[in-house]
Amino acid sequence: MARGYRIKAAIPVSLFLCFLVLNTKISSSEQLDYSCPNTTTYNPNSTYKANINILLSVLSSNATTTSGFYNYTSGGGSHPSDVVYGLFLCRGDVSANVCQSCVETAGKEIGRLCPKEKVAIIWYDNCLLRYSNQYIFSIPDQSIGFSTNNTQSISDPKPFMQVLGETMNDVATRAVNDESGKKFATEEVKITAIDVLYSLAQCTPDLSDAGCNMCLGDAISSLPSCCDGKRGGRMVFPSCNVRYELFPFYKITQAAPPPAPVLPPPASSPGKRGISSPVLVAILVPTVVSLLLFIVVICFLHRKAKKRYNFLQEDTVSNEITTVESLKYDFITIQSATNNFSVGNKIGEGGYGVVYKGTLPSGQEIAVKRLSRYSGQGAEEFKNEVVLVAKLQHRNLVRLLGFCLEGQEKILIYEFVPNKSLDYFLSDPKKHGQLDWSSRYKIIRGIARGLLYLHEDSRLTIIHRDLKTSNVLLDGDMNAKISDFGMARIFGVDQTQGNTSRVVGTYGYMPPEYVMRGRFSVKSDVYSFGVLVLEIICGRTISSFYQSDIAEDLSSYAFKLWKEGTPLELTDPTLEGSYSIDEVKRCIHIGLLCVQQDPNLRPSMATVVIMLSSYSVTLPIPQQPAFFARSRECSKILKGLGLDQSTSKSMPWSVNEASITEVYPR
Ligand SMILES: *[C@@H]1O[C@H](CO)[C@@H](O)[C@H](O)[C@H]1NC(C)=O
Ligand SMILES: *[C@@H]1O[C@H](CO)[C@@H](O)[C@H](O)[C@H]1NC(C)=O
Ligand SMILES: *[C@@H]1O[C@H](CO)[C@@H](O)[C@H](O)[C@H]1NC(C)=O
Ligand SMILES: *[C@@H]1O[C@H](CO)[C@@H](O)[C@H](O)[C@H]1NC(C)=O
Ligand SMILES: *[C@@H]1O[C@H](CO)[C@@H](O)[C@H](O)[C@H]1NC(C)=O
Repeated sequence: MARGYRIKAAIPVSLFLCFLVLNTKISSSEQLDYSCPNTTTYNPNSTYKANINILLSVLSSNATTTSGFYNYTSGGGSHPSDVVYGLFLCRGDVSANVCQSCVETAGKEIGRLCPKEKVAIIWYDNCLLRYSNQYIFSIPDQSIGFSTNNTQSISDPKPFMQVLGETMNDVATRAVNDESGKKFATEEVKITAIDVLYSLAQCTPDLSDAGCNMCLGDAISSLPSCCDGKRGGRMVFPSCNVRYELFPFYKITQAAPPPAPVLPPPASSPGKRGISSPVLVAILVPTVVSLLLFIVVICFLHRKAKKRYNFLQEDTVSNEITTVESLKYDFITIQSATNNFSVGNKIGEGGYGVVYKGTLPSGQEIAVKRLSRYSGQGAEEFKNEVVLVAKLQHRNLVRLLGFCLEGQEKILIYEFVPNKSLDYFLSDPKKHGQLDWSSRYKIIRGIARGLLYLHEDSRLTIIHRDLKTSNVLLDGDMNAKISDFGMARIFGVDQTQGNTSRVVGTYGYMPPEYVMRGRFSVKSDVYSFGVLVLEIICGRTISSFYQSDIAEDLSSYAFKLWKEGTPLELTDPTLEGSYSIDEVKRCIHIGLLCVQQDPNLRPSMATVVIMLSSYSVTLPIPQQPAFFARSRECSKILKGLGLDQSTSKSMPWSVNEASITEVYPR
């Protein structure tokens, strides 16, 4: 997977785009965005450059003959470090000629915009082109991306967002199950007498169904934050993209009526769909239903067979040697980057070692974690784990760039995240003002997405085990980035081994089943997430809470206020008057659901992400949090609050949540 990406010029380009879209309707050959970090570069006369040229000409010549996607490995015979992996993807509805001309333009422009960078991607309306010095095929990549919205707003956003959620779900499900193998689908839904909602979802077809599903799920769940109440919007990643507008922006296929989703949609709401004639439907329904049943069975069998195949593939295909080599840093480099680990460069100290800020000769800033020396793990095991963890790439995770292993030294190199940790802002009352409600809300959603990715990535299930405010870093735009994930793996500690002495300071984040029985699961992270949410809302870290005169822990206090019908009293006084009551209440509610005593009652992170994105999801009543004295009055009071545990469980923003858990190999 490509590393070292960062979005360049995303905002100006997007603004420019919006401007163009508004003024010229749409000219489809628009360049949308590109990215090529200068962290890994090549010389103009190198073999790598020659291989890029071969790649570009192969891609461009294949654009007319293939169905909108082609991947190629250039320089397979040369030295592993000169190999270039590349692909293009055209929007599913464009003709071969349009595709070819887009790929050709992209090839020229990428050479101009990224003259020396080894990893590059460029997006157009009609196509995308990317290459990397690392294996990128069949790996869902949501590590970078951009969103655009139509700046015009919808007049009545609530019902619209509801329909949009359902439609996007539908179209994503159809893209995942696209029989043509293109992993592309569009859908039109009449929303008012005059307005039609046009929607599109597409993955690169090299992804597995599960990978596509995950990528689209992430894209769709980002829509409410970029495009809430907007007449159009899109979220674009390297591996997938979604878009909706109230005008046609793709070629509408007049073929068969839109097929019913193969997987049942999470919620069906009556009377919105249906462009096809009722008479036709009456005749077609029995035929279509039996046909679909047949297809479902075939798909199911096919998928079962393919799944096993993919599993073997992944292990054999990934070029471990290249990967380990490309992640390796010399000790000398790190030593000089950090001024020989000088005290002046020290930026933190955690359970696993001291962290230094460093600057590589290229000018890139890094964070260097020098592990304490008593890790009992062997070198090979260490490298394997680093490679695994380095493959976890997501906007809301701090990126592991590499490692250094020399003699006794074990060092991890991370991207440098400028704005310190959440802890820094919350523990100092003077800094609270810098975190208004919208940034806090963004942080909460970011943490939820990062954690979801850790829990449901297709290769590994990573339990963080030590999620807390000091492990949530903030980038220049105040996006949350979770750090220190995968440490238990890298450090080779027995994961059930108490560790309670090390986490004294973070006692409040540990769920009771861990503290008491050493039991850990994804639901332990959910618990820690719940604590974090409550901390972010009340603007105090849990440790300050313990030192204060309030004789309860934070979650019990929050629950008590909740029971008393005054949940908003929990809110940080510095937010007074500047927050959305609905959002804060909902976050408190979700926080309380996450800190429930019984791990089985806590929602999964997938559910949390959905709850945060959609107001139409009815939340269950939280049970008492861990360590809270029992009381029988809760339900009465909650009923009074209008937060009755409802029967309906509509989740329009979820994409096949069930099938994610079902399909993923663990
Ligand atoms: C390639 O470029 C490097 C520096 O950019 C130079 O030192 C080297 O001589 C060049 N090699 C050839 C074959 O031109
Ligand atoms: C792709 O292009 C290469 C080189 O131009 C050619 O050899 C190959 O047959 C093409 N593949 C397809 C599927 O058209
Ligand atoms: C294209 O990608 C597939 C995996 O999706 C891979 O097996 C194949 O080797 C790739 N083809 C080339 C020419 O790199
Ligand atoms: C729409 O996009 C603009 C700029 O791209 C952004 O500032 C704005 O927050 C977005 N709108 C919404 C509702 O997120
Ligand atoms: C890489 O980019 C950064 C900022 O974009 C710049 O400051 C730095 O000088 C660049 N490094 C190289 C080697 O070009």
